[in-house]
Amino acid sequence: MSGLSVVILAAGQGTRMRSMRPKVLHAVAGKPMLQHVIDAAGALSASAIYVVYGHGGDAVCSRLADQPVQWIEQAEQLGTGHAVNQAMPAVPAHHTVMVLYGDVPLITDSTLRRLAAAAADGMGLLTTHLSDPAGYGRIVRDDAENVLAIVEEKDATERQRAIQEVNTGMLAASAADLRRWLDALDNNNAQGEYYLTDIIARAVSEGLSINTVNPEVVAEVMGVNNRVQLAQLERDYQRRQCEKLMMSGVTLLDPERFDLRGTLTAGQDVIIDVNVVVEGDVILGDGVYIGPNCYLREVSIAADTRISSHSVLEQADIGAECRIGPFARVRPETRLADRVHIGNFVEVKKSRVATGSKINHLSYVGDTLVGNDVNIGAGVITCNYDGANKHRTIIGDNAFIGSDTQLVAPVEVGAGATIGAGSTITHDTPAGELTLSRIRQKTVSGWQRPTKKTD
Ligand code: UD1
Ligand code: CA
Repeated sequence: MSGLSVVILAAGQGTRMRSMRPKVLHAVAGKPMLQHVIDAAGALSASAIYVVYGHGGDAVCSRLADQPVQWIEQAEQLGTGHAVNQAMPAVPAHHTVMVLYGDVPLITDSTLRRLAAAAADGMGLLTTHLSDPAGYGRIVRDDAENVLAIVEEKDATERQRAIQEVNTGMLAASAADLRRWLDALDNNNAQGEYYLTDIIARAVSEGLSINTVNPEVVAEVMGVNNRVQLAQLERDYQRRQCEKLMMSGVTLLDPERFDLRGTLTAGQDVIIDVNVVVEGDVILGDGVYIGPNCYLREVSIAADTRISSHSVLEQADIGAECRIGPFARVRPETRLADRVHIGNFVEVKKSRVATGSKINHLSYVGDTLVGNDVNIGAGVITCNYDGANKHRTIIGDNAFIGSDTQLVAPVEVGAGATIGAGSTITHDTPAGELTLSRIRQKTVSGWQRPTKKTD
């Protein structure tokens, strides 16, 4: 092939989404639909990708500003042929042009490769068969099965409407031919639009062969016009993703109740219980178990760690053989070494916890360095914020922090130190010693509880 230019149509209003947001920015698996299409096109090593966006569609360009695409505005939506033609001045004549749709997100690069190949000796046209073809352009063939034309439903005869082979809208053709055909289009049809589909009959009249290609699964060519269709594609995408994960050796206790919005790299014998949501890039080592109702975003978890139910972990690095949860919250910039225990109702933020340390109950640990084999009792709080700035807490190896202690940062607890329960620690505490700040217990002997007055 002598160079490929991809044109993605994304100028439609998307009125039926009933949204403030342009349709192509609505997400499937956490990623804007248009981004899915750009990624599929990107995998073809195209020379250029043009996105035709609509008037007022600046939100699209700014949301996807970092994409390797060229933005082309179609100020007025005069039809699919008019839309493609907006990009043509930028396309070199010797290129093959592939037309894709920004609201048809699940198209795969492997199907697109076959479509590009089909354009080598004629025009490539992606079609599919639908039991209910209503709304789509129909593929009209002659007795020898050669494609003659595409007829839009609104322009079709009764007999043509019965045809079940439909136009997906995606095609590939030579840029020089396309430019000539598009310049000659008219809008004398039921919708008063410049139809891209009219180029098929022109190509046929010039003796070109129209080579049709079908997707591997129909979902690849399904478009999104409303939120019902968006949800259907989401489920389809999730189901296929789950199948891949399971085939690669991950146990999903219920693939219907697992959502991946990103990439999951998993070792052997990973088990994921129900209602787990994974976002961004997540890495799970061999033998990791993720309990029910957990949310993981951009985390890596090393081998044989167990995350118990209802835990939320974001942007954290978790070592091997850790025990996290249930009901734990591990916040960004946290690094836990091997065999760390983080128990219920414990929040850890921007902290490093070294090997074998335990924070088992109801604690907040923020901006803290915790050494090896430290035991942090129930209800310990690092007071890391003075209302204006954050301060660090350092806890040495083997320290024991009694329950209900407040560590007022900046503060350092020496190695092997013991802090008595209920202390408020405002100064550094020496290594190996017991420090406590609570008042001495006393007993008032003979004291009587008040009794209720009777009149
Ligand atoms: C189009 C096809 C039809 C096909 C169907 C598949 C034509 C004339 N018809 O019909 O054969 O079966 O898609 O879904 O091509 N767009 C623009 N600018 C425009 C008009 C459209 O960017 O001026 C974009 C839309 O955002 C959309 C795509 O092109 O992503 C298709 O437009 P739409 O109006 O939905 O075409 P259909 O009538 O569905
Ligand atoms: Ca459509």
